[in-house]
Amino acid sequence: MDVRELAPGLAFGRRIVGLTAADIADEAIVRELNALWVAHGLIVFADGQCDPDFQVALSRCFGELQVHAVKEMLHPDRDELFVAKGGDGALYEVNGELLGGYIPWHSDQVFTAETNHGGILRVAQRPAKGGNTAFVDQIEAYEALPDHLKAQVEDLEVVYRLKPGSITNFKFLPRQRINMIRTNPFQDQVEARIAAGAYPPVVHPLVFTQAETGRKVLNLSPMFADYILGMSARESDALLTTLAAHLTDEARVYDHCWQAGDMVLWDNWRMLHCARGVPDGMYREVHRTSIAGDYALGRVLMEEPALL
Ligand SMILES: [Fe+2]
Repeated sequence: MDVRELAPGLAFGRRIVGLTAADIADEAIVRELNALWVAHGLIVFADGQCDPDFQVALSRCFGELQVHAVKEMLHPDRDELFVAKGGDGALYEVNGELLGGYIPWHSDQVFTAETNHGGILRVAQRPAKGGNTAFVDQIEAYEALPDHLKAQVEDLEVVYRLKPGSITNFKFLPRQRINMIRTNPFQDQVEARIAAGAYPPVVHPLVFTQAETGRKVLNLSPMFADYILGMSARESDALLTTLAAHLTDEARVYDHCWQAGDMVLWDNWRMLHCARGVPDGMYREVHRTSIAGDYALGRVLMEEPALL
């Protein structure tokens, strides 16, 4: 395999050039791909095979695939593919700029107890401008924490939920002033399911250890995070605000500008990602697989405590 550095000086990620279906028929290559995924968290596949069949076959090298929880966003012909559109759905004003398809920093499906292990993104339609997907490594972010914060976060747990309303209702999206301009056409269906109790609050540890390497992960998704269990609202808000700002420090971000033929694999258990959005009037479409798995540390919160 042709495996390269992803970007000069970047501590995570790798770039693999020219991968095809013939390569992944070789078990040794599949083992090497899995080792690279665990070690580096993010793999950009460039100048190789790039079509829906290969995207699904390559994803299966890393685990079973699962069908995404939000049915309105599945591909009409293939349940394995989740379709993220930018430009004809929700529209936000972010720091004064009108953006379609914008999604703030998050882990996928962290509002469920079993977060998927990862996914492969393929760009189906590139916009003329914008549409980047940005990634940050929560292992690197943990290692960069000052010692007093490492000690403070060690045994804490965070409550997450899929909230009604727009992303403007999330409290821990630092450096982003967001106004809702237009909602997704399926927003009412999602809100009806939330109101019916389909997405109960869940809890995930704020720190966990990557099983294969012993490295610690600062396990916070700024989007969907609500509060820290057992803390006063004031303390919890202050700590989550500090940690979210630390995690999304642009100095540690890799910003992927999509080129024709790119696919991107990431480890959803240790990488946050953010859809930067496309300027109003432009359209972008990406298709994503969901690689199943359970790190077995999340749980449904059966009874919510009264916040202090
Ligand atoms: Fe996502």
